[in-house]
Amino acid sequence: MVGTLAILSACMLPSSEAVSQPAPAPAATPTAAATIPATAAAGSAALDQARIAGGRELFSNWGCAACHTLSDAQSNGAVGPSLDGNASLTEDFITARVTNGQGAMPAFGGQLSPKEVADIAYYIAHVAKK
Ligand code: HEC
Repeated sequence: MVGTLAILSACMLPSSEAVSQPAPAPAATPTAAATIPATAAAGSAALDQARIAGGRELFSNWGCAACHTLSDAQSNGAVGPSLDGNASLTEDFITARVTNGQGAMPAFGGQLSPKEVADIAYYIAHVAKK
């Protein structure tokens, strides 16, 4: 845990992104949904909905919500950084962080299978507000 404070403070950059602030609807375009980053309801063919649902379930079953804000999961934990509003949260980055932890972020690599971690990463990367 050496260096936890420094790491934490480095990560606690102000991200005063409003949690749920639906953008004012643009001029009615039938394809508007395509421009909105994937909520599960967007129905994008490219999105693996079963995986999204599985990831959402893992997210709530494993206590991620207690520490993280993620609007799709209706969570508003504030121990760790918000997962909404961070465009640099890629699947690879999330996978590494969830597997290995960092500072006050627990490592889940010993409890979740690599596939489960990958599913959570897929879920977060696709539903988090950018
Ligand atoms: C005990 C509180 C706690 C729990 C439970 C927790 N996290 Fe975290 N998480 C943190 C903290 C604190 C950080 C910041 C770590 C750092 O960078 O020092 C973090 C960082 C992260 C990051 C990187 C975010 C960023 O902006 O750097 C991701 C992604 C993440 N957690 C996902 C998860 C997932 C998925 C779960 C559930 C499997 C989870 N966390 C459970 C506290 C927690």
